Amino acid sequence: MATATTPQAAGIIGAAVPRIDGPVKTTGTALYAVDHDFPGLAHAVAVQSTVGSGRIRKLDASAAEQMPGVLLIFHHGNMEKVYRLFPHQDDATTSEARPPFEDDKIYYWGQYVALVVAETLEQATAAAEAVRAEYDAETPNVSADLETGFTGQRHSSWKRGDPDKALAEAPVVIDETYITPVETHNPMEMHGTVAVWDGDNVTLYESSQGVVNHRIVMAEVLGVPRENVRVISRFIGSGFGGKLFPWPQSTMAAVAARKLNRPVKLSLDRRMMFSNVGHRPLTEQRIRLGATADGRLTAVRHDFLNHTSMLDDIVERCGEQTPFIYSCPNLEVSSGLARRNVGTPTPMRGPGAVPGLFALESAMDELAVKLKMDPLELRIKNDAERDEGTNLPFSSRHLKECFTTGAEKIGWKQRTPEPGSMRRNGKVIGWGLAGASWGAARIPCTATVELCPNGRICVRCATQDIGTGTYTVFAQVMHAKTGVPMDRIDVLLGDSSLPDGPTSGGSMATSAVLPAATNAVNSAITRLMNIATLTQNSPFYGAKPETLTLIDGRIHMKEPEQAGVRRMALTSDDAPAVRPPAGGIPFEELISLARLSGITATGRTFPSFEDPKAKAYSLHSFGAHIAEVEWEPDIARLRVSRIFSIFDCGRIINLKAGANQILGAAVMGVGMTLLEETRYEKRTGQPINGSFADYLVATCADLPELDVTFLDYPDLIVNEYGARGVGEIGMAGVAPAITAAVYHATGIRVRELPVRIEDLLQSKIVEV
Ligand code: MOS
Repeated sequence: MATATTPQAAGIIGAAVPRIDGPVKTTGTALYAVDHDFPGLAHAVAVQSTVGSGRIRKLDASAAEQMPGVLLIFHHGNMEKVYRLFPHQDDATTSEARPPFEDDKIYYWGQYVALVVAETLEQATAAAEAVRAEYDAETPNVSADLETGFTGQRHSSWKRGDPDKALAEAPVVIDETYITPVETHNPMEMHGTVAVWDGDNVTLYESSQGVVNHRIVMAEVLGVPRENVRVISRFIGSGFGGKLFPWPQSTMAAVAARKLNRPVKLSLDRRMMFSNVGHRPLTEQRIRLGATADGRLTAVRHDFLNHTSMLDDIVERCGEQTPFIYSCPNLEVSSGLARRNVGTPTPMRGPGAVPGLFALESAMDELAVKLKMDPLELRIKNDAERDEGTNLPFSSRHLKECFTTGAEKIGWKQRTPEPGSMRRNGKVIGWGLAGASWGAARIPCTATVELCPNGRICVRCATQDIGTGTYTVFAQVMHAKTGVPMDRIDVLLGDSSLPDGPTSGGSMATSAVLPAATNAVNSAITRLMNIATLTQNSPFYGAKPETLTLIDGRIHMKEPEQAGVRRMALTSDDAPAVRPPAGGIPFEELISLARLSGITATGRTFPSFEDPKAKAYSLHSFGAHIAEVEWEPDIARLRVSRIFSIFDCGRIINLKAGANQILGAAVMGVGMTLLEETRYEKRTGQPINGSFADYLVATCADLPELDVTFLDYPDLIVNEYGARGVGEIGMAGVAPAITAAVYHATGIRVRELPVRIEDLLQSKIVEV
């Protein structure tokens, strides 16, 4: 097959390529969901419950209905019929199973009780305030204590050996409980929907991490055929998991637009982000570790609970990495769900792994302290050679090298283990480390590539770029395979009417799109070469397609001396004896010679879960964070001063976008460790710090020096590029590395996040 490219073009894979969508985003010309405007657009504003549990006794919208500009008010008394999606339906996933306004019951504070649609946003806002709701309120259960009084079922997800017996016999045991609070997704762009009907067809402008899934869910909910629904998310101000699945505002906007036969816009505000569109649930995790006196793990028990909403069963899979990250013969992981009057939780960056590894890696650090062993040495001693959970070999695992590389970078050999024993510039410093892991897979994807008569290449796929660089990855593959300059490559994503592509979730988009994009462009090139040799007025007429190559977007003979082959292959002696030009011809010239509208080909990704070769391996990425904190005991000031992040995520396709993922995740990790926590008011269940004034996220002023290293070992089991994907994993391990460093600096072990100054005031390290 003719796919040879110039070395420069091939070198674009792995390079630090700026995002091709950067200019439209930074100049403000990229249209996000609620930027879309249409003639006759009506504005919707939701009314939210002011109680956290109970039922609506009376809802009076009569005054609001009379207000200027009001077009429609929906509530449980007059809502149009919508449908549920059966949970875990195999090709689509939703978030809240209960459709909006289904009945008069209230399950959490802020639940939608009415929707007001008016000519202007101001009119809708004013009328929404005039809707009167009376409730039979009950005291909501928003208790952050999950374990006390837990009566639910516990499910054992992994078990091997006899962990209880091994714990009873272990010379050294750690038995501690770790708590991670509710964290709220706060992407820059909030959720919102613009719904536009055209007859029986609806287009939804959304901020979605999965337009294909969104389309299927909304077709089910609205009771219309899938082909009648189109979901568009061309640009997304990120999601971090919060936009994986549709939320009720999408249904509300679609139903209102259908009823009014007018486009309707419904945009959430920042406060609603804390109640209506998911969060990382509260977790309480008991970790028991048993070890020999020389630091070999003999038993691991990881028993956790997480809270969920009253109606949906969302398990935060905290024990996912536990069975394989270290070697241990006796192990059990169990989980349970505690129902609370809160909105439905949803995945948040590194779901399961992030809180789970906070607990497990914190316990490992505590074990190292108890053993008087270096925490780095403990990790290395217990490194796993194969996945002891599935009993499969790892496709590629370099966790040990992540740790040793990081140790080298910070100069770990100089570390003295005693808490408070290291000083620098009048401050106490502490060093801590933790490991990270995240699964990899090759999920299905379809993409088409079109070689266009104007010399451009157009790629189409119904995946989306949530800010991670997916547009650019497609363009890199096109450039690598054809040599056509990046500014002549158009990538169309974020539209469910394009060929089916994957949800941008689980850090699997890149590994899914690479094979489809490659197969599509390879097929397009093969077609181009066939057409070049079969078109009578082509300078390559009669040549063998395999003697042709595409360099810098031009069709060349591979060997100059083969140019004459054309004449010998001719069947008609009246054909002109034109030698192919030495510089080849642009592909668009051939398309024009052949009078084609373009050359299009489709490529698919064969999923790893159907691939016997991939199924024979445990596919995971690995990494390590090493954190340094500075503690100033006299003013009780703690700062994270450095984080080294060393990651083994297979081959990195775009160094800039890849490093950006780890940097962003480390920032989120600092926020998780020191600042973030969504708290609910006890009597009403209201998120009391539901704003950027009260819910603190890490800003630049909070940030340490960040240093990212990729080991860059290609994982050829996952795809031909060796790329596993990067994103979620960067946040795993940050919190336990920082809290281990906090212990090292202050002697205080924080097992409940976030770290509070009040915790550190107990420190016995008082002098520098
Ligand atoms: Mo990620 S939590 O799958 O967006």
